[in-house]
Amino acid sequence: MRNLILCLFFSTVLFAACQKTAENANVQPSTNSTAGYYTEPHRPQFHFSPEKMWMNDPNGMVYFEGEYHLFYQHYPDANVWGPMHWGHAVSTDLVHWKHLPIALYPDSLGLIFSGSAVVDWNNTSGFGLNGQPPLVAIFTQHLMEGEKAGRTDFQYQSIAYSTDKGRTWTKYAGNPVVPNTQKIKDFRDPKVVWDEDSKQWVMVFAAHDHVMLWGSPDLKKWKHLSDFGKEFGGHGGVWECPDLFPMTVEGTGEKRWVLLQSLNPGAANGGSGTQYFVGNFDGKKFTLDPGFASSVAGGKAVWLDHGRDNYAGVTWSDVPSSDGRRLFMGWMSNWDYATLVPTEAWRSATTLPRQLVLKNTSAGMRLATLPVKELEVLRGKAYTIDNQVVENNLDLTAKLGFAASMVEMELEIELPEGSIPDFGIAVSNQQGEEYRVGFDAASNQFYSDRTKAGKADFSDKFAVKRHTAPRVSSSKTVHLHLFFDVASCELFADNGEVVMTDIYFPTTDFSKVQLYASNGKVKVKTLKAWELKRAF
Ligand code: FRU
Repeated sequence: MRNLILCLFFSTVLFAACQKTAENANVQPSTNSTAGYYTEPHRPQFHFSPEKMWMNDPNGMVYFEGEYHLFYQHYPDANVWGPMHWGHAVSTDLVHWKHLPIALYPDSLGLIFSGSAVVDWNNTSGFGLNGQPPLVAIFTQHLMEGEKAGRTDFQYQSIAYSTDKGRTWTKYAGNPVVPNTQKIKDFRDPKVVWDEDSKQWVMVFAAHDHVMLWGSPDLKKWKHLSDFGKEFGGHGGVWECPDLFPMTVEGTGEKRWVLLQSLNPGAANGGSGTQYFVGNFDGKKFTLDPGFASSVAGGKAVWLDHGRDNYAGVTWSDVPSSDGRRLFMGWMSNWDYATLVPTEAWRSATTLPRQLVLKNTSAGMRLATLPVKELEVLRGKAYTIDNQVVENNLDLTAKLGFAASMVEMELEIELPEGSIPDFGIAVSNQQGEEYRVGFDAASNQFYSDRTKAGKADFSDKFAVKRHTAPRVSSSKTVHLHLFFDVASCELFADNGEVVMTDIYFPTTDFSKVQLYASNGKVKVKTLKAWELKRAF
């Protein structure tokens, strides 16, 4: 369906748009912090969002010389999807972002779809300058004319390089570096990693219902290594935006390879979502951990996030080994309604930056997801409760003394013996609109409920039902870590074992915050709440 819409859309606007964006090539980066900046209704205050117009997937995330780069799928001429460019921003702390001019524009080979970037430390590509390693971006080009003509080879992989810390980019004259000789319609979203064991660059990209792995000595010449995935994981839609990387299993020296794999539609709670696989890569093939295979057999999937608004996320390349974290960010939306959400000046934001941790659990190898510790710089006033029994509602609004729309909370709640409570946090406004996030002990599920949280008539797929996620832990203490930012909530439950990310659009910002417990009392062992400051 989306392809049909895109096709019609493109047939009318592509050429005009490309011409217009070329004229805008000299747009200067924003100065930030001016009065009225980022104050529109529903504008996230500590999540990254583009200054203007459309954004989807994060792209080209790479750390180099003290800067985290974030590129993103961007259409600079409208607040809906259109001819894709790579927008660009940098941050020194993952929290405060500086907008930079557009990095990559469409050209005669096509639009600039999703992809990745690496530091070519040994200058294998030869693009380096004066002994300095180049940044190399690897991305899909999508040729609209090819698609319209009914061809199936209109997506292929290209590269570009930068020798000035990502500020300007030169496309490689030999593009595409991976042509689509197999003529596969969905052939996109390359993510590249250097594999020290096999001493080669490894590219993973999505080919409709599986991923392809390719290898290269120099980022220019690529050879097909293997395929993975047709018979494993969720296949309710098209595979997109994979990421393949090594990780150490927490608390051990053991190494595994993790494959993140976005899927649209077919996610846990509908529409777009990201599943993952844990296994090994031997320089040629990715094979599942024997223990993991049963979790993804017969169409089953293991989800990174059970909310509806974390899609196409991938991890940062080249985070220094002295840091050692695997850092992740996703697009905080869903193709079910992304182009319809009620914002004007811009559309979409990223998730918070997160750290992925690989754990050997009773269910097998699993990823835990945690908000990065850098986010603590946003904390303002704090409020704490210790050891309090709660039944029905505890109104925290006056106690907190700060706006309910931008809050971080950590709660440790003890489940009482012999009862099955339903508890959580509700944020609401004067209009009676309310969003709830919590845990229902009877069904052993976390949930996120935006069905009464405000505007929803823009799409009949937005607020259909509450979103649920099975609890994994059997501990008597439930841990909730929550971030509310005007139009979104992120839940990291049980130390990141279960994650839910959802957006919402209250008519006026949420001003009231309550802790609720029904169907029995709960004991709040600790509740910590912080006011969060804006990041712009
Ligand atoms: C995922 C995706 C990618 C593609 C990009 C186009 O959201 O569909 O597969 O490269 O968006 O903008």
